[in-house]
Amino acid sequence: MKVASIVGARPQFIKAAPVSREIRRRHTEVLIHTGQHYDEAMSDVFFRNLEIPSPDYNLEVGSGSHAHQTGEMLIRLEEVLLRVSPDVVLVYGDTNSTLAGALAAAKLHLPVGHVEAGLRSFNRTMPEELNRIVADHLAALLFCPTQTAVDNLKREGIEKGVHLVGDVMYDVALANAQEARKRDIIRRLGLEPKGYVLATVHRPANVDEKVSLESVLRAFAGCGETVVFPVHPRTRKMIKQFGLAEGLPPTVVLIEPVDYLDFLALLMEAKKVATDSGGVQKEAYFFGIPCVTLRDETEWMETVEDGWNAVVGTDTKDVVDAIRNFNPHGTKSKSFGDGHAAERIVKLLEAFA
Ligand code: UD1
Ligand code: UDP
Repeated sequence: MKVASIVGARPQFIKAAPVSREIRRRHTEVLIHTGQHYDEAMSDVFFRNLEIPSPDYNLEVGSGSHAHQTGEMLIRLEEVLLRVSPDVVLVYGDTNSTLAGALAAAKLHLPVGHVEAGLRSFNRTMPEELNRIVADHLAALLFCPTQTAVDNLKREGIEKGVHLVGDVMYDVALANAQEARKRDIIRRLGLEPKGYVLATVHRPANVDEKVSLESVLRAFAGCGETVVFPVHPRTRKMIKQFGLAEGLPPTVVLIEPVDYLDFLALLMEAKKVATDSGGVQKEAYFFGIPCVTLRDETEWMETVEDGWNAVVGTDTKDVVDAIRNFNPHGTKSKSFGDGHAAERIVKLLEAFA
């Protein structure tokens, strides 16, 4: 079986790692990087960290408006897919690389497998929501991480090719937790275990508007905790553009994006997490770290139902209140599988091909 895997953005390198490893045990994988993320800290480090082979193709599409970026990807992906002629094309998550990959492949009549299918926020102003809906409706195989995802697809009339496999991000987190514990980033940053909040913010709705970005930063500054904040390049650009860095106290520690192992190391010893990231909400849940979600809704309802995720939006007072007072405890249900999602995906691909 020849599988073409299409990745392009940070969370996709992480999701593809266990699947790629499993494919390569018995089959051929052609790895295609669209070039959506290209900074060393947003791309190359993950290939090294997670021992992902170098991409066979890097389409170097780079940044741009949605139409420009997606359009360039479509043009370049079509050419590569025609040359590679895979048995199946795998796309991951919900970025513009996912959308372009699914569309380019489906138009060439190549079967598409969507890893992390069925997620919905029910908020169509999020670019990811549009990408997911299109990718799911084009896919022949839909690999769902949760029962919620399966149910979402059913509501849209998609039942054929749907498989509940568990979450590949759980596979990666489990496989790398031990290695992450050896990292010394907490000491290097002068932090105490359980003595800080770990924050990430990058959703356009939160960072592209001065009001919401300022509101979140004000909460970090005023919550009474040290807040370690690896800053996504989109966010760094906007903090600079709005001139918001100057007013921040030293308790808000802005750092460059870190690699996956350092991120897990920071996460596992954090007192709490404050984030608008999809992946980080789940990782907080996996490791039992209370998560304050800086959005009005989440795709990962299991984390909320289990009481470990407080979805509070971006209002300064609400964020401060949650950082100070959200103290969940109790057991977590196993809603994200058993750490063997990648194996299931490859078995299903084999049965399909
Ligand atoms: C993208 C995904 C989002 C995902 C996120 C993961 C889409 C529509 N969005 O958002 O779903 O959660 O990745 O991190 O696909 N930039 C750099 N260097 C880089 C990459 C980006 O400086 O290596 C800057 C550029 O100014 C760029 C901006 O970040 O314009 C946004 O990058 P882009 O890939 O368009 O969207 P993300 O916000 O990263
Ligand atoms: N991550 C990382 N370094 C960072 C911030 C995040 O390695 O500085 C990892 C994190 O562990 C998670 C993934 O990036 O696995 C989440 O990606 P991101 O928040 O960019 O995208 P989203 O999940 O929201 O699509």
